[in-house]
Amino acid sequence: MKYRAPKGTRDIWLPEITLWQRIESTVREVASLYGYGEIRTPIFESVELFERSVGEETDIVNKEMYVFQDRGGRMMALRPEGTASVVRAYLQNRMGAIGREVRLYYIGPMFRYERPQKGRCRQLHQFGVELLGSDRPEADIEVISFVKHVYDRLELKGTCLKINSVGCPVCRPVYHENLCTFLVNMSEGMCDNCSVRARKNPLRVFDCKSRQCQSILNEAPSILDYLCSECVDHHKAVKEMLSLLAISFEEDVRLVRGLDYYTRTAFEFIHGGLGSQDAVGGGGRYDGLVEELGGQHVPAVGFAGGLERLILLLSETQDASIEQDFSAGCFIAAASAEVRSNVQVLAELLRRNSVTTVTDTQDRSLKSQMKLAGKYGVKAVVILGFDECEEGTCLVKNMITGKQRKISQNDIPDVVRAMSNTGDE
Ligand code: HAM
Repeated sequence: MKYRAPKGTRDIWLPEITLWQRIESTVREVASLYGYGEIRTPIFESVELFERSVGEETDIVNKEMYVFQDRGGRMMALRPEGTASVVRAYLQNRMGAIGREVRLYYIGPMFRYERPQKGRCRQLHQFGVELLGSDRPEADIEVISFVKHVYDRLELKGTCLKINSVGCPVCRPVYHENLCTFLVNMSEGMCDNCSVRARKNPLRVFDCKSRQCQSILNEAPSILDYLCSECVDHHKAVKEMLSLLAISFEEDVRLVRGLDYYTRTAFEFIHGGLGSQDAVGGGGRYDGLVEELGGQHVPAVGFAGGLERLILLLSETQDASIEQDFSAGCFIAAASAEVRSNVQVLAELLRRNSVTTVTDTQDRSLKSQMKLAGKYGVKAVVILGFDECEEGTCLVKNMITGKQRKISQNDIPDVVRAMSNTGDE
């Protein structure tokens, strides 16, 4: 094969696409229940937007971004995530001017140059939600409840919600300093990557999967011991409300997430069935990001979930239909070559009357057309001959009973519908 999809990307079509469509429509249904409107932002944005928001020292920006120079000499990146673009769009379109919270959701592809493996691709898809304009714990709860609602509607079992607080600009610097001191003292035992991270962006060491580093980190100071009173209260309120809403969670003091914009709440939905890439989705609060990108102080919270990982989990328990379903539609067969264009006219009419209609496009014999109709799995075949065309009639064959009768062309929609409902019209 000369041309193949690029490494880490793939084609998605039948039967798997039916699951994708189910997830997408579930997200849209839930979004409308929570009052979220859809936003579609460009697939590429300036590199600087992601550097400023996700963070220059994160793996996502440092190692994984698809960066290119456009023909005008601008440095662009294929978006590695959606939050930065949403905040940019919020500012550019003055969405804050409506004077209330802004609730947005998105579904679409993101791009990260990672080593492909189960649940990890270079073109990944996410559904995401962002709630801008509230610093209250109720907003965190709304976002978490939204995501849980999507997973419950999809009948996804076995997720575990992990939650932490990563503090705020008041309390995090003190924690950073203490963590830094601890890490620098321990740096001899850590991997090369973490020795650098320890100085540049100490929280990132918690992302390291190396056993050696993990065992050192077990002894690291905990952020929870450094939170300021506002962060403590916020974290407590979020946990209390989760319990009230009967959303079970585990507190994980080492959950820091791989993006720099988080403040206070950070959370992830984990699933044991995914192997090492076990996050089905994650999110958190980002109270400083709007300001960082040039706006006023607008606190916000959001989430994004990976669709590939969701598909992996759902396809273990849920069947995607193998073929496209034509059982409620009909096939129109031409009894002779001279009526081929009449078949097309009739097909057009039926589709306009909401009847799914397929026809032969290869000049097959009547016998082959009947076989083809069987392959499509239609229950009704409309047969058109020269005489029927003249009379405005047609023959309809019930593919279940094998019975055939003549009807007026005007009655086809009703007859086809009756056959697909009862099978014995
Ligand atoms: P993230 O944790 O980087 O967060 O990604 C969210 C989810 O996208 C992950 O939990 C995972 O399910 C999926 N994902 C990430 N990378 C890959 C990959 N290479 N292959 C397959 N799936 C992947 C964000 O993107 C934040 N923007 C979330 C957010 C929204 N925070 C606030 N608002």
